Amino acid sequence: MPTSIDYVTDPSPGHGALPPRAWYADSSANSVSLNGTWDFRLSATADAHDDSFASPAYDADGWSSVSVPGHWVMQGDGAFGAPAYTNVLYPFPVDPPRVPDENPTGDHLRVFDLPGDWPGDGSAVVRFDGVESCARVWLNGTELGEFKGSRLPHEFEVGHLLAPTGNVLAVRVHQWSAGSYLEDQDQWWLPGIFRDVTLLHRPTGGVRDFFTHASYEHTTGLGTLRVDSDVAGRITVPELGVDVPTGEPVTVAVEPWTAETPRLYDGELATAGERVPLRIGFRTVELSDGLIKVNGTPILFKGVNRHEWHPEHGRALDLETMRRDVELMKAHNINAVRTSHYPPHPAFLALCDEYGLWVIDECDLETHGFVEQGWRDNPVDDERWTPALLDRAARTVERDKNHPSIVLWSLGNEAGTGRGLTAMAEWIRARDPERLVHYEGDINCRDTDVYSRMYADHAEVERIGQGVDGGPEKRRRLPFIQCEYAHAMGNGPGGLADYQRLFEKYERLQGGFVWEWIDHGVADERHGYAYGGDFGEELHDGNFVCDGLLFPDRTPSPGLIEFKKVIEPVRIAVDGAAGTVQVTNRYDFRDLSHLAFDWTYEVEGEAVERGTLTVPPLSPGETADVKLSAPATSDGYWTVRALDGDGREVAWGQNSVAVVRNTATLFGGHTSPADGVITLGPATFDARTGDLRAIGDVTLASAPRLDVWRAPTDNDDGASWQSGERLGLLWRKFGLHRMQHRVDGVELDGAALTVRTRVGPASRDIGLRANYRWTADERRLRLTVSVAPEGDWRIPLPRLGVRLGLPVGDLGVRWFGGGPGEAYPDTRDAARLGRWESDVAALHTPYVRPQENGARADVRWAELGGLRIEGEPAYALTARRWTTQQLDAATHRTDLTPGDTLWVHLDHSQQGIGTQSCGPGVLPQYRLTPGPAEFSFTFEQLA
Ligand code: GAL
Repeated sequence: MPTSIDYVTDPSPGHGALPPRAWYADSSANSVSLNGTWDFRLSATADAHDDSFASPAYDADGWSSVSVPGHWVMQGDGAFGAPAYTNVLYPFPVDPPRVPDENPTGDHLRVFDLPGDWPGDGSAVVRFDGVESCARVWLNGTELGEFKGSRLPHEFEVGHLLAPTGNVLAVRVHQWSAGSYLEDQDQWWLPGIFRDVTLLHRPTGGVRDFFTHASYEHTTGLGTLRVDSDVAGRITVPELGVDVPTGEPVTVAVEPWTAETPRLYDGELATAGERVPLRIGFRTVELSDGLIKVNGTPILFKGVNRHEWHPEHGRALDLETMRRDVELMKAHNINAVRTSHYPPHPAFLALCDEYGLWVIDECDLETHGFVEQGWRDNPVDDERWTPALLDRAARTVERDKNHPSIVLWSLGNEAGTGRGLTAMAEWIRARDPERLVHYEGDINCRDTDVYSRMYADHAEVERIGQGVDGGPEKRRRLPFIQCEYAHAMGNGPGGLADYQRLFEKYERLQGGFVWEWIDHGVADERHGYAYGGDFGEELHDGNFVCDGLLFPDRTPSPGLIEFKKVIEPVRIAVDGAAGTVQVTNRYDFRDLSHLAFDWTYEVEGEAVERGTLTVPPLSPGETADVKLSAPATSDGYWTVRALDGDGREVAWGQNSVAVVRNTATLFGGHTSPADGVITLGPATFDARTGDLRAIGDVTLASAPRLDVWRAPTDNDDGASWQSGERLGLLWRKFGLHRMQHRVDGVELDGAALTVRTRVGPASRDIGLRANYRWTADERRLRLTVSVAPEGDWRIPLPRLGVRLGLPVGDLGVRWFGGGPGEAYPDTRDAARLGRWESDVAALHTPYVRPQENGARADVRWAELGGLRIEGEPAYALTARRWTTQQLDAATHRTDLTPGDTLWVHLDHSQQGIGTQSCGPGVLPQYRLTPGPAEFSFTFEQLA
């Protein structure tokens, strides 16, 4: 008899689960983790097998096994199917609530015994913390129920069914269900029991649900605590001398909780049958004067959007990975996280309480794919789905309500608008009036307390900040956040500092959340990291799933380093001429007494003096000018740093140093062409082409010549839906990747060799006149490049500089300039002037989809490949063992293999980066508009 599978396509949230309640760990009640290896059988359809496998008598011989928590598609070496990635589109026909017949279904079995000390009294529940997307559950052959809501907990009463030994928990999991229509988030589709499964003893008189209310009155310094519990008991907080019955408020002097000062008080809820530890943070969230205030102070979100991701385990995260995320966020000055687009594993929220992060906790809801049909049939505006929406809202709020870090509830993401969303907002407000409600899709702020947008450009954000953006009256009175901005896909995001300046300038702008925290690359032997399409999906969105500030292995990308600098909580502005440093406290709550300051005075990257600095313990917003001690020389620059108690750098500043321009001609001898060769000081040239062949003993693999091409970044390419200028495409259309070089003259003129060329693409009249003027003395060779555009250039250049090829030998690189990481015109705040060392391989930034990367900005001189190369003016250095064309052609990390030539790019300038992979392009001031240019390099063979 095939099993009825009607429940799979039933829009209801399910049947049989207990009402949602607060999630807590470490109670005095017994519990057994049912994580581990489970027997597993995969079927292609939901009804391939009847439910006899749930019977204790069933013999699972011949089944496979999977790890729980886990996604079956991430296990079994391909035997259990594969991940699939789409952003907006449903990967099945849109016919709600129906799903395809091909519905991978995983039957899971776990046999367990009760521990010897399992109490005889009370009852028990089994709790599933996350199962994608629909599960039906049996214990010892008795059906418990079925549920949907992948990233939400579900509990079932099981006490009456438990035996001391040989209990059989059977779970049938369907990849697709009616619930899938509500879970169209931009991420991999990953079925499975991906969070913990736990058996919890429920003692007689045990705690069921409780709600900790802990507010802070900033004018008096008093906190008020009241813990409502549906089983009465006592609340104790020893440190505060609190010992009160549940439900009774108590007011005491406390230190408040903020993301900057995450003060938690340990307490306990004790009922007749159970003791539950409490971690209490006193804080008050309110909307007042049109601002989000905590403890009476407006806050500025310096946030990120975090999906749960692990390159081997998908969304099945272990505690250490969660801790790593939080520690990385804190170490990079991030103060807020939006749990895009579902409630995270609850342990993550406990870490946010402990370390201090403002949290927007988002409900597990997105119906983005309905946009394809003009939002027709959108479940959020269809009453049949409202119970499921309310269930999701309740499971989110009830589970997470006791976390002080959560300041806003978010209804979901990109689900259009509709009555269901309004019902959710109303339910949440009634249940928890002490927090605010967020939903970006509610453009008129009908149901929300904050005007939230994604990817608004700088100009619009500024208008919103000025309050001249119009909109409905209610919205005009609300604060503004960008729940997503600065799309961190590939190289970038560009323009972060420009956003931050706006956020800091206008009170109404309360910051934003970079999209997103981590690349969702799947560890993959073929590709290094796989992305959409690598598993043969018929519909997919490619590497749009790799758009994070961390690489999949959690290595910070340059974007994260830049973000850290841009949002640093102390501004350090060194005025070299005055010999002072202006320090500004940009925290919202903390003074600077926890920071130590030091300074270094460097000449050409070498520290000549250093010391510590006494900075007054400034309050938030305060500024002080501090005198720096007079250096012995005047040709250097200061670096001033702020360090926390662990000696970790929080912020830094440097004064700018003028670069002395020296473009004078070098004087030295040359010989006239003989044997087809011209010599000039240490260099030899091809007399016919004017190509440089060697500098001393360094024989060039490829002579320096003008180069304008870069391997388009994701931000150059832009997003397919964008109507504006998409430069990656335009550059190719105009042929900038296949520029032809024509030599118009090789002229010896006194001490100089001049090579006149024109560089332009086939089929177009646009081009660049490029003259190379070479002079030399005994040891040094100087190149001055003059460039003049011709024709109707309507597009910026990708880059403007020269490229040369050197034989691969010593791969060490030393430079004096910006570093240590890459920097482009609009991603360069984190580049600091210094003397740096690396090797060629480490200069490369391993974006999951290879693209232009690795430029070191403001280089005064560099030593590599046997040469010292000085720039006048400073230049951007990129060096790699593949050509730009090879980099451009690569689709995955593993496509790049180092060759025999060291390609060195000396760029006068580069086009900015922007965030057009999903957002605005490059701001005008970072655009590389073709125009006359002149720049010089001096080459010298290293001793
Ligand atoms: C937003 C969406 C995110 C993600 C992002 C682009 O529209 O909310 O989930 O898709 O764009 O990466």
